[in-house]
Amino acid sequence: MSTVWHNPQRPITPAADLHGDSLDSSTASGNGSSPAAGNGAARGAERDERADVAAKYRRTLCRQLYAELPADAAQQDPDELSLQLEVRLESLLRDDGALLDDADQQTVIDMVIDEVFGFGPLGPLMRDAELSDILVNGPFQVFVEKKGQLSTTGVTFDDVPHLLRVIERMVSQTGRRIDASHPMVDARLTDGSRINAILNPPAINGPLLSIRRFGSRPLTADDLIKNQTLACEMLDFLAACVRTRLNIVIAGGTGSGKTTLLNALSRFIRSSERIATIEDTAEIELQQPHVVKMEARPGGDGRAAITMRELVKNTLRMRPDRIIIGECRGAETLEMLQAMNTGHDGSMTTIHANSPREAFSRMELMICLEGGDIPVWALRKQMASSIDLVIHISRQLGGARKVVSIAEVTGTEGDVISMQDIFRYEQTGVVNDVAVGHFEATGIRPNCFERLAAAGAGLAPQFFMRRQLAGGNQPAGASPRFGV
Ligand SMILES: Nc1ncnc2c1ncn2[C@@H]1O[C@H](COP(=O)(O)OP(=O)(O)OP(=O)(O)O)[C@@H](O)[C@H]1O
Ligand SMILES: [Mg+2]
Repeated sequence: MSTVWHNPQRPITPAADLHGDSLDSSTASGNGSSPAAGNGAARGAERDERADVAAKYRRTLCRQLYAELPADAAQQDPDELSLQLEVRLESLLRDDGALLDDADQQTVIDMVIDEVFGFGPLGPLMRDAELSDILVNGPFQVFVEKKGQLSTTGVTFDDVPHLLRVIERMVSQTGRRIDASHPMVDARLTDGSRINAILNPPAINGPLLSIRRFGSRPLTADDLIKNQTLACEMLDFLAACVRTRLNIVIAGGTGSGKTTLLNALSRFIRSSERIATIEDTAEIELQQPHVVKMEARPGGDGRAAITMRELVKNTLRMRPDRIIIGECRGAETLEMLQAMNTGHDGSMTTIHANSPREAFSRMELMICLEGGDIPVWALRKQMASSIDLVIHISRQLGGARKVVSIAEVTGTEGDVISMQDIFRYEQTGVVNDVAVGHFEATGIRPNCFERLAAAGAGLAPQFFMRRQLAGGNQPAGASPRFGV
């Protein structure tokens, strides 16, 4: 307990600046004697105000404790440090004449521990398994996404240097760096979260940090059925396509669930196959025993960049049975098409696009922008012969993800790539700001049917009969359209 608590390098914020004198419950309830005491709304507002004051006071105490810490606090044992903080906090409270219950005291200690060892004010959000995104827009605004819905939080940082400290800690954990000469970074934390940070400049209003969480475990195919992302029949079909080694592209908007679906579908790959994964930021979690994982590397610090394109090219010399590319964003697209065409069928990737057709336009654009001097008709022929299936997933109004189309690529007609929907989701309306609709089989038997049968997929022709499928989220009382 001989720790020197006051570190003159760090300023102490006087507690009185922020907490006022209304924290303890007797003072707070003293304000409740207004004529509006019986009024629920007024009481609610008063409660919010008191909670706000209490939160500010906790923050002040945290700052004060943190400012007093010795410079080597991060080298101490966290449990030991917590005990020391507890003693010091009690003394601070005595000096202040303030009361904090045990839970609040623990919160303050946890806040300091998060400042020393963790991610500061983001600590509680990072521990909340229900959040899928944490979005920090400068020091004073933090949004989160929960169950597909974005909302603001009361979480703030003290100032820009405070936020920068947290960003630097996150980034340095991943072995990458961020500073004035490298103001943008993409990385993956040890818990699997993907982060993107960008400093000022180019971020105009202060540092921006976007954290994509993946929960304690990735969503499985069963989870996607349970939460009605797709119908059982659609999953059966996709599982058969994966096992039959069809080349699959998953298209969708940002955060629509492309990587999650890719992960879930990858479970259907036979464990005897040698699979190569290539990503900008490693996110794919394969369960098979024979997986080689590669991650692109940005250049800088005298290190040469290693691009996705180089990795795809290199992978072709590694005898993979399948290649999984996390996301096609540029020059690797052409390489991927060639890989799909040259004995690496069963390859899969994702692409930012808002429909299966747009997925092809995007690929075409990416190849042209990278200087691929192939005539458009030849490129389209190559795309149509390389890709067998395009799955389109989208985030619906209300936050749910739906596989809105599973389209088979059937070839080209003139210059146009032809496709046919085998399954789709039809939105029928919006109830209480939530999109409702149903999945359906379109009645088209896919051209790959024979291939699926030859691979032992065991899907009967009736499987593709036109009908509405169970699942989706239909309004109560809605009746199936096709009489099934
Ligand atoms: N089908 C789903 N149901 C519920 N939540 C989902 C589903 N798919 C994804 N999510 C959640 O949504 C978030 C985004 O998912 P994911 O990273 O798979 O999207 P993405 O389309 O690959 O995003 P990006 O465009 O940023 O690469 C994750 O936190 C994930 O847990
Ligand atoms: Mg993704």
